[in-house]
Amino acid sequence: MHKDVESILISEEKLENIVNSLAKQIEKDYNGKEFIMVGLLKGSIVFMAQLMTKIDLDFEVDFMVASSYDGTESTGKVRIDKDISIPVKDRDVLIVEDIVDSGSTLETVTRHLLSEGAASVKVCTLCDKPARRKVSFTPDYCGAEIPDKFIVGYGLDYDEKYRNLPYIGVLKRSVFE
Ligand code: IMP
Ligand code: MG
Repeated sequence: MHKDVESILISEEKLENIVNSLAKQIEKDYNGKEFIMVGLLKGSIVFMAQLMTKIDLDFEVDFMVASSYDGTESTGKVRIDKDISIPVKDRDVLIVEDIVDSGSTLETVTRHLLSEGAASVKVCTLCDKPARRKVSFTPDYCGAEIPDKFIVGYGLDYDEKYRNLPYIGVLKRSVFE
């Protein structure tokens, strides 16, 4: 285990089971639809890379970049830094994300894709911290609901580090305090 990690929250084995189960649900729901899978960079990279290989359907892959910046109050404002490059009009879009926290990122990205004419927009997140929600948002597919702790690994970072850890771990408070 990495020295900055306090405990392992989701092991490699558990992650594999979560990914397989989400892939099965998606495969069933999207059977016969030629959807676009859109990963939100960079946190989703490991999860999406694993997930896509388990889905036995035809689909396109693209990426978006969204970043949140805090306004004067605690409400996070979200900016889209890189839009999807495939036209979404009348297309079914499945967004893949690492974690839902306040909900602002996914609420903004979903609303944006619908305003561009997407036929449907669904969200598949690996983790969800429902206790931290500030805007109303419910993911369509969720790998694990987790407590209000800062987690790293399997794509998730703190200060751009720890994305390479093969498990999801709770970061020691001493690292960020
Ligand atoms: P939201 O807009 O507040 O839902 O923010 C979601 C984004 O915050 C995620 O895509 C992550 O990049 C980041 N984030 C939230 N919680 C964590 C965490 O525990 N570890 C790493 N990144 C996190
Ligand atoms: Mg993210």
